[in-house]
Amino acid sequence: MNSTSESNRPTLHARAAVAEAVEAARESDRPLRILFVCLGNICRSPAAHGIAEQEAARRNMKIEIDSAGFYGGHAGDLPDPRMRRAAAARGYTLNHRARKIRSFDFDDFDIVIGMDDNNISDLQQLAGTVERARKIVRMTDFATAHPDYDYVPDPYYEGPEGFEIVLDLLEDSCSELLDLCEESGLK
Ligand code: 4NP
Repeated sequence: MNSTSESNRPTLHARAAVAEAVEAARESDRPLRILFVCLGNICRSPAAHGIAEQEAARRNMKIEIDSAGFYGGHAGDLPDPRMRRAAAARGYTLNHRARKIRSFDFDDFDIVIGMDDNNISDLQQLAGTVERARKIVRMTDFATAHPDYDYVPDPYYEGPEGFEIVLDLLEDSCSELLDLCEESGLK
């Protein structure tokens, strides 16, 4: 719990990272590219991927979205059936195939969004340079309606309620992320 987090969100770093990402895409006259990252790439990040993709399409925004994970053991798999079911109940179809993150993802994407402390420290290590590391943002930095969460909890070993809170956090964060993209001038 962090009583100051509510007023701090989206954080200054999140705002700056989105503004820089949108600027990079506009300068190159190409869609903004967002990468969501978690551990397995079968629960949290593919759900963020599906939610953001669907919401961006609904808003008619030019964004390319992908997701990846640090653990390659599920590479090629569809998202966990529990996450697919929970997401489908909210109207999202998740059909991403899991893949392992690569260091050159930092060159291919404008912003790289991790779900928890481990993801963020692993991303910082993988980034290797300050320039690349500036693209890393924590998902809950966008979660304005959930000030009591400072990471998206791994639902893999949890019951059904674990998947619901993940989806609540991701819907909140994706909505704010896309609002910021629009405020930064993304069409
Ligand atoms: P995710 O959840 O990082 O949200 O995709 C996990 C999925 C699988 C494993 C860990 C976390 N695993 O250890 O297999």
